[in-house]
Amino acid sequence: VIPLPGEPRLPAALHSRLLQDVERFSKGLPGDINAWARERYGVDLSGEYAGRKVRVPFGKASGQLSMNTAEVAADAAAGLGFVVLKTVIAEDSAGERSMAAWAVRESAMRVERRVSQSGLEGWTVTWKGRGWDRSFEEYLVLYRAALEAGAAAAMPVAASVKYDLPPAGQPFREDEYAHTTRSLAAVGGPDTIIEKDFSPTLAGDDRSREREAILRWIERVPPLVLAQAPVTLGMKLMNARFDDSFQVTMLETARATEAAFLVCFNRLFDAERGVAYGGWDLSDRNLRVLDRARIGWRPAERPRFSATGNIISGRVMAEYARRGASSGQLHTVFQLPPEAYLARAGSRSARALHSLLLDPREGLIAWMLHLGESGELHSRGGLLHFLDIAPGAGPDA
Ligand SMILES: Cc1cc2nc3c(=O)[nH]c(=O)nc-3n(C[C@H](O)[C@H](O)[C@H](O)COP(=O)(O)O)c2cc1C
Repeated sequence: VIPLPGEPRLPAALHSRLLQDVERFSKGLPGDINAWARERYGVDLSGEYAGRKVRVPFGKASGQLSMNTAEVAADAAAGLGFVVLKTVIAEDSAGERSMAAWAVRESAMRVERRVSQSGLEGWTVTWKGRGWDRSFEEYLVLYRAALEAGAAAAMPVAASVKYDLPPAGQPFREDEYAHTTRSLAAVGGPDTIIEKDFSPTLAGDDRSREREAILRWIERVPPLVLAQAPVTLGMKLMNARFDDSFQVTMLETARATEAAFLVCFNRLFDAERGVAYGGWDLSDRNLRVLDRARIGWRPAERPRFSATGNIISGRVMAEYARRGASSGQLHTVFQLPPEAYLARAGSRSARALHSLLLDPREGLIAWMLHLGESGELHSRGGLLHFLDIAPGAGPDA
């Protein structure tokens, strides 16, 4: 896939309309953002997450910003497409957790500039903590309340779990899979979406030294989870500390499982500093691997996936969509200093969404119009559809 050019090519009238709308909505986006964008720009912003239609493709990724109900309610009000709650560490019915080392909180988060190998200055969040550090019961309470807050805005809310991942040659602790999955499904019922988190700190751990151990996890986790309850399972793949071709092998292995969807790919791991990081190195690597993975796939075999990694603009979202993503999940963009957003009021989520959609140079609407102008995206029913950006998805497919 050839990268998008420096600036979107769009008629001058639409460029000035975006400039006007940036100002007009700097204190809050229209309530029904999707209907508004159809009417004003002829674009359908709907995305898809975990097999559910979402109003915009931008969702909140699992992490420190989805730890309480107030945050989820603010995201629903801001217009986000979906929310993934912080990762909880799986436990068995006796409360035992094989991944207990991940249930810790270590240090405060720091938002930092990071220059990529390609020389671009981006943002990364440095933090040494790991999973949910309160009890599983408290997580279930959060999950119930968050589902309710989401439902009021028809916004899906997913749980995220780190289940037991044994070193090579050792058995899986099935009781952790059973207890954790069934407890979540008892709360979420048919709405239960679970992302299995393979985190960057796991990539940096001894457990991930061998490629075979990683591939075994990817193959075995879906049947272990799905045997417990009929949940929608997503596999959030880590960036392993191996080369691109192993990353492609991971993706192909995951694609062949019964998981309903994939999340590609969690942050990189800096072994020297012992921290996960993002920025342009992360999106460069992810887009490169996704480009390679597509080679030779028939359209019907391409998995729809939720992208993650440096989605700090509509442009980056469009780049992932051009490689098959149906949504994106974001963390860093919600933590930027206030002057990084074009909006002057509202929650972080509302301000971020305003720029992600409306920025005349970097926003999703501008880039969808560009793809329409350049002939890469064809209109259907008089509208340009975000979900048609993926190769093999549009009206010509
Ligand atoms: C402070 C912090 C905590 C995170 N915690 C989790 C987590 O608990 N589970 C998880 O699956 N991903 C976690 N992530 C990864 C994010 O969900 C996201 O996939 C990643 O940061 C890439 O998106 P971004 O470049 O927009 O930040 C965390 C990221 C950050 C920055």
